[in-house]
Amino acid sequence: VIDKQHKRIVDYINEIHDNLEDRDRNVLGGVIDSMIDYTLTHFAFEEALMERAGYPILKHHKLVHQSFAQRVQDHKKNFDEGKDVTRQLLGDLQIWLTSHIKRDDQDYAVLVRGALEEKSWIAKMLQKFFGS
Ligand SMILES: [Fe+2]
Repeated sequence: VIDKQHKRIVDYINEIHDNLEDRDRNVLGGVIDSMIDYTLTHFAFEEALMERAGYPILKHHKLVHQSFAQRVQDHKKNFDEGKDVTRQLLGDLQIWLTSHIKRDDQDYAVLVRGALEEKSWIAKMLQKFFGS
């Protein structure tokens, strides 16, 4: 479930990359907004899962999510003010997010796998956060 969500985030990163040269900034801005929105929902889902599984350093993981969320929102704010921040944003996404997925998220994987056994709870959470 989590891998699928991470892949979706990577799809958004690729979409931002593909739209970098778009003369219509609204298109690129829309993709960035969708990526931020999806990533924040994913973080909330992940945190609910870690909480359910009793992940001992949830507080730390949450702070890491918060600092990332703040960073991308700052990039978006600068973008909305007309600054060219897309390459910076892409760099951040590629380096920061992928290393977070590879390192920090791997850390909870074993523990959370147990919580994932509860299919009905997962289905309920997917519905709650993603509406699907
Ligand atoms: Fe995470």
